[in-house]
Amino acid sequence: MASATAAKLQATDLDELKATDISLFIGSRVHLTKEELLSGRYAGALRELLERRGVLVFPLIRFTDEEQIAFTKTFGAFAHELRGEEVFRITLDKGVNAAAEYLKGSLYWHIDGTMNPAPIFASILSSKVLSPSGGNTEFCNTYAAWENLEEDDKKRLEGLRVMHSAWNSLFYYEPEPSYAKLEEMMSLGKGETELPLVWKHRCGRKSLILGCTAHHVIGMSARESTKLLVRLRDWATRPQFTYSHKWRVGDTVMWDNTGTMHRATPYDPSCGRLLHRTILQGDEPFT
Ligand SMILES: [Fe+2]
Repeated sequence: MASATAAKLQATDLDELKATDISLFIGSRVHLTKEELLSGRYAGALRELLERRGVLVFPLIRFTDEEQIAFTKTFGAFAHELRGEEVFRITLDKGVNAAAEYLKGSLYWHIDGTMNPAPIFASILSSKVLSPSGGNTEFCNTYAAWENLEEDDKKRLEGLRVMHSAWNSLFYYEPEPSYAKLEEMMSLGKGETELPLVWKHRCGRKSLILGCTAHHVIGMSARESTKLLVRLRDWATRPQFTYSHKWRVGDTVMWDNTGTMHRATPYDPSCGRLLHRTILQGDEPFT
């Protein structure tokens, strides 16, 4: 591993935000009050902290849906969900969310919106009902994973391109789907798209684009492509780049979707676990 590098904020900024680092490479807990968060006064500094740390945790902040929507809007352009809702109910219970089947892919490392030209910038999740076991949400910092690769490795990887598809995630949770199921999944997604392996952000930093939508590296043999995608996912999700959030009802967690991957750890689909999500529009295309 190259010498460890971690983006750092000045101590004074962290003091103002009442924030503490969770670990060297990922995550900060923010202890501002609900009123302070809703005022919007700290939104710029929080956004900067989010981009540096990947994940912000607001412990037991107990947002109502209206407050979560208002908080989300302090950061900029609010995005509606696919079906037009302001708040998406994340559950594997089909009685609550008809799209529950599609969420099975959320148990595997991914970036939201890899099929869109500009993925959402950030997501905000609040816990409403816990699962008795499992059901953590885990994050890894794909900026830090890139920055800590060996320089020779970086040179080999820059310029590579990867084919992504939403339907590829089906094979993670159902290795032998029926043909009808495959056709159904292919009709839900937006086909296939080619993305760079290394995202050159306009801030000057770079991050890895990986996850369960990544199908193959363009121009590589199946064997070499699979080895590379698994090696990099394994690297990016090492403990030093990863944070696993164990939920309490009332916690809110926000993550930078452009500089992280995330997943849920397995839980009983019928246990009632429920999270409410709001999202912020992205304006940075994959480049
Ligand atoms: Fe997701």
